[in-house]
Amino acid sequence: MTAPPAHPPRKVYFETFGCQMNKLDSELALQALARAGFTTTDDVRDADLVVLNTCSVREHAEHRVLSRLGRLKPGGPVRKEGALVAVTGCMAQRQGRDLLRRAPQVDIVAGTKEFVRLPELYADVKRERRPLAAVDQGEVFDYPRDPRFRSEKHRAWISIMRGCDLHCTYCIVPTTRGPEESRPLADVLDEARRLVDDGVVEITLLGQTVNSWGKQLPGSPDLADLLCALDELPGLLRTRFVTSHPNFFRNGFWERIRGLRTFCPYVHVPAQHGSDRILKRMARLYTTDGFRAMAEEARAAIPDLVLASDWIVGFPGETEEDHERSKSFLREIGFPQNFVFKYSPRPTTPSERRFADDVPDAVKARRCNELLDIHAELSHAYNLSFVDRAVEVLVEGPSKTNAERLFGRTQQNRIVIFDGSEDLVGRLVSVRVEAVSPHSLYGTLCEPSAPRRSLPLAGR
Ligand code: 5AD
Ligand code: SF4
Repeated sequence: MTAPPAHPPRKVYFETFGCQMNKLDSELALQALARAGFTTTDDVRDADLVVLNTCSVREHAEHRVLSRLGRLKPGGPVRKEGALVAVTGCMAQRQGRDLLRRAPQVDIVAGTKEFVRLPELYADVKRERRPLAAVDQGEVFDYPRDPRFRSEKHRAWISIMRGCDLHCTYCIVPTTRGPEESRPLADVLDEARRLVDDGVVEITLLGQTVNSWGKQLPGSPDLADLLCALDELPGLLRTRFVTSHPNFFRNGFWERIRGLRTFCPYVHVPAQHGSDRILKRMARLYTTDGFRAMAEEARAAIPDLVLASDWIVGFPGETEEDHERSKSFLREIGFPQNFVFKYSPRPTTPSERRFADDVPDAVKARRCNELLDIHAELSHAYNLSFVDRAVEVLVEGPSKTNAERLFGRTQQNRIVIFDGSEDLVGRLVSVRVEAVSPHSLYGTLCEPSAPRRSLPLAGR
C-alpha cells in the first residue's frame, strides 16, 4: 500500500460572470490553483473552494452573483463542510471588505489584480480562520501563462492590456480595473507562440480599449504592429481583438492591417448611441460624424469588414428623438452584430452622481426591443448576402442546437452550421451557404480544407 498524500487533493469549482476578460482571468486563476495542487470539479457540492468570478457592469450582473451567494450559506445543500467561498473580479474589487460584511458566507474577496493569489489567500484563511479581503495589492501581468489552462483547444484569449484611462460617464470599469497598462510586445508574442505550439489556431487579443495598446511602452508600438508581428507566427490561422474605441485607430491603422493573412475582418467597436447630445453626456469623446468617418476609412481599406456595436438605451435624459437617432445611426452604419443594454446607474460613476435615472424601465425595455428588431433585420439581410456562396469556416465543434451537426465561424464571426466529421474541429473548411436565419448560416461542406484567402470574399 502506498502512503496517503499529506492532504487529499483539494477541488475548486468556478463560476464566471461577465466579459471575455473575466473568462480569461478564471483560466489564469485556475492555472495558479492547479500549481498549488487543486483540481477542478463541476459539482459545487464537492468543492473545497468555490470561486465566483464576478462582473459589475450592470446592477443585474451583481444581483445574479448575490442570488448565487444566497445558495452558498454554510450548512446549505450546495456547500461542502469546511469549503471556502471566494468572490473575485470586478464586484469584489468594487465592494472590497464591505462584501464580507454584506455576505458573511464569503471567506475571500480578491480584486481584479489579486485573483492569481487565490492559493495563498485560501491558505491564509484556513490558517487564520477568519475571512480576508485583498484588493489593490497585486500585479497581474506578472505570471507565466501555462497554455494548458484554457477552455478551448483551438482558440485562446490573450490579455494584452488591462484597465482603462477613459471616463465614459456610465462605466464602472475604470474603477474596477484601474488605469491602463499594456503588456510588452515580446511577452504577448511569447504567450502566443506557446499557445500555438499547444494547438491554438485562433487568438483573440483582449483589452478594455484594446486599440490603444502600446502607448505606455518604449517606442510606443501600436495594435497594428502587434497584429503584423502575430501574422508571422506559423500555425496561427486567425487573430481577433476586442474591445475597441473608435478614436484609437490611428496612423493608418486599417491600411497597415488590410493584407494580413491572419486578421479577421470583424471588429467590435461600440457606438453606444446615435445622438451627439447623449454621446457628449456619456463623455465618449466622439460625435456621430467622427464615428462615421472612422467607419468609412475602415471600409475603404477593408471592404468585407464587419463592424459590431454595443448600444445603451435609456441613458439619463434620453428623449424619444435621441432614441430615434440611435435607430437611424444603427441602420446607417449597418452593423450586422449588436449588443443592446438598458442603462443601469453604477454607484460612484459620473452619470450616477450627476444625472437622475429618469427613463422608466418600461421605456428602456421598449427602446431596447426596437434596437434589437433592427439588429435582427440587419443581421438577416447580411446573412442573406452569403446564400449560394462559399465561406471560410474555422470548425469549433458539435452544434449547440443539434449535436449531430458541426458549427464554426466565418472570419466575420458568423456562426455556420453544417454536417461533417469531428476530425475537422480546429481546421479551416469551405462551406457553401444554402439557407440562413437572422443569426446563423446553414450549408454544406465543399472541401475538407480551404487555402487561406482563396475563397470569394463576401462584400457587405
Ligand atoms: N449600463 C448599461 N450598459 C452599460 N455598459 C457599460 N456600462 C453600462 C451601464 N452602466 C455597456 C456598454 C459597454 C458594454 C460592455 O456594456 O455598452 O460597451
Ligand atoms: Fe464586467 Fe466590465 Fe468587469 Fe468585464 S471589465 S467583468 S464587463 S465590469
